[in-house]
Amino acid sequence: MNLLAFFEEDRAAVDTALDRLMPGESVQPPSIHHAMRYSVQAGGKRVRPILCLESARIFSADVAPILPVACALEFIHTYSLIHDDLPALDNDDLRRGKPTCHKQFGEAIAILAGDALLTLAFETIANASIDPVRRVAILSHVAASAGTVNGMVGGQVADIEAEGHAIQPADLEYIHRSKTAALIRASVVAGAIGGGADDQNVARLNRFGETIGWAFQVVDDILDVEESSAALGKTAGKDAAQHKATYPSLYGLEKSRQFAKELEDRAMAELETYGSRAARLRELAELIVHRRA
Ligand code: IPE
Ligand code: IPE
Ligand code: MG
Ligand code: MG
Ligand code: MG
Repeated sequence: MNLLAFFEEDRAAVDTALDRLMPGESVQPPSIHHAMRYSVQAGGKRVRPILCLESARIFSADVAPILPVACALEFIHTYSLIHDDLPALDNDDLRRGKPTCHKQFGEAIAILAGDALLTLAFETIANASIDPVRRVAILSHVAASAGTVNGMVGGQVADIEAEGHAIQPADLEYIHRSKTAALIRASVVAGAIGGGADDQNVARLNRFGETIGWAFQVVDDILDVEESSAALGKTAGKDAAQHKATYPSLYGLEKSRQFAKELEDRAMAELETYGSRAARLRELAELIVHRRA
């Protein structure tokens, strides 16, 4: 199976499950369910759920029980985008090729839609048909990755507080590993745990996820410089305009590209031991580093 076929197959399965797992638009109060669905269904590459499913596939032929967990990761990611775009944070008008959630529904509903997606994520994982001990381990990893200690919220705080300041390499590393790599790492680890991996394999996938997640944000920074808003579906050139701490701003584009490639190599090395069982995950890692949107 070539990359596109399996990628599309996973994405279709995820999109169907996302639709099933969210309350319908007629459920009270309709405004919030409308906003949640709007942002989740606006598009998106579904990188985190697909990473979760492909990580699980290394250890299990049947990944159907992991699908809700994969969707929960997309709920958390979409919540993080809605809040990232708010006027108090990055103040963005365009997301996934559409007006941002707060532009469409107002700030109050956007804030609440983010809260609701975060909460729905944990309800969804708690209800998954996965062995209870593994389910709790997944909950713990995912919750920590979205939190303040080396997690997404902590990284977002540091990102906002770094705006307009000269930044040290260690601070930039902290921001990227926390705001973006943590949730990507948790996606990979959740798949591995759900698929039945033992502790040693979970640790290996953890290192893979951390490294490819870091590369993901380095590439996001590069694309913000190199691509158009139309290609990205979000406002290009915003990082420089807002004096964000990014890899291109600290090291330049060429060094940033080299670093992303170095991270890709490091991530790939963790998968070597799995041979052809990790073929899809390897292709996905390559896509993350070489994507143009
Ligand atoms: C954008 O993530 C935000 C970052 C963490 C860099 P994605 O590039 O995965 O956005 P979607 O889900 O495809 O819209
Ligand atoms: C956002 O980083 C990371 C999140 C946790 C949402 P960015 O602010 O660079 O993401 P984009 O470029 O707006 O998607
Ligand atoms: Mg941001
Ligand atoms: Mg942003
Ligand atoms: Mg960005």
